[in-house]
Amino acid sequence: MLSGSKLPDDILVNHYKNLAYKSFGIQFLGAKVDILKIKLNKMASAHNLELYNFYDRLVSEDPEAIDIFLHQITVGHTYFFRENAHFEILVNDIKKRSIREPLIWCAASSSGEEPYSIAISLLESGIANFKILASDVNLNALKTMNKGLYHTSRFENMDPVIKQTYFKRASQYYYSVIPKLREYLVLKRLNLHDSLAFESMFDYIFCRNVLIYFSEAGRSKVIDTLVRNLLPKGLLFVGHSEAILSLPDKLDKDSPASYRKN
Ligand SMILES: C[S@@+](CC[C@H](N)C(=O)[O-])C[C@H]1O[C@@H](n2cnc3c(N)ncnc32)[C@H](O)[C@@H]1O
Repeated sequence: MLSGSKLPDDILVNHYKNLAYKSFGIQFLGAKVDILKIKLNKMASAHNLELYNFYDRLVSEDPEAIDIFLHQITVGHTYFFRENAHFEILVNDIKKRSIREPLIWCAASSSGEEPYSIAISLLESGIANFKILASDVNLNALKTMNKGLYHTSRFENMDPVIKQTYFKRASQYYYSVIPKLREYLVLKRLNLHDSLAFESMFDYIFCRNVLIYFSEAGRSKVIDTLVRNLLPKGLLFVGHSEAILSLPDKLDKDSPASYRKN
C-alpha cells in the first residue's frame, strides 16, 4: 500500500505506469510517461482525489476507481466509417462465402461508431441476419454506445442519406441511432488481456487501432486470443497502421490490414 508514504512523484507515476501495463496491457514508454503524468494530474483534479490513496484503491480492484482510471488512460478516438475499405471487404466476403448468419466481434469498439458502421454496411448490402458483439474495456465508452447518441463531428465520413436513414436528430449537435440498428449489437465489457473464450467462434473479428497501445508481447498475446476465437477461413481486421509483423502460423495475409485464418 502506498497511502501515507512519501514517495517522490516519479516513483508514484511509475507505479501507475506498471499497473496500466500489467492490468490492461497499455504501455507508456519514453515521452509517453510525461503524457501519463498529465493524465494523472487531470484525473486527480477532475475527481478531487489524492493520487497515493487512489493507487491503493486501484490495487484493491475498486470498480469505481478502475472506471475512472481507464477513462483517463485509454484513447477512445473514433468516428463512423473509419478505414471504410474494411467494410466493403467484409460485405464481399460474406457474400462470396455465402455466410448465412455472420457472427462478428468488434473488440475495442470504443463508443460504438465502428460496430454501428459495420451494421449499416451490412444492412445497406441486403444482409440483415447478423449479430455483432461490441466490446471495450472502458465502461464510459460502452455507456455511450448503449445510448447511441453522437455529436455531429463523428459523422464527417458518412453519406447524408445514410445518416438520415439510421439516425434521428436529438438536439442541435447530437443525433441518436434508431432502435432497429441498436438491436444488432450485443455490448460487453471485455479486457483483451484476459484469456477470453466464447460459446461460439466468430466469422469476423475487428480489432482496430488498439494494438498500437500494447507492447510487442502484449500484442502477440492479444492476437493469439483473437485467432483462437476466429473460425477457420474467418477474417481478422486490424488498423491500417497496425500490420501484424510476426504473423502466427494460423494466419495468412488477405489485404493490407486483414488476415485470414487458415
Ligand atoms: C482508439 S480506440 C479505437 C476504436 C475503434 N476500434 C476504431 O478503430 O475507431 C481504442 C479503444 O481500445 C480500448 N482499449 C484499450 N485497452 C483495451 C483493453 N486492454 N481491452 C479492451 N479494450 C481496450 C479503449 O478503451 C478504446 O476505446
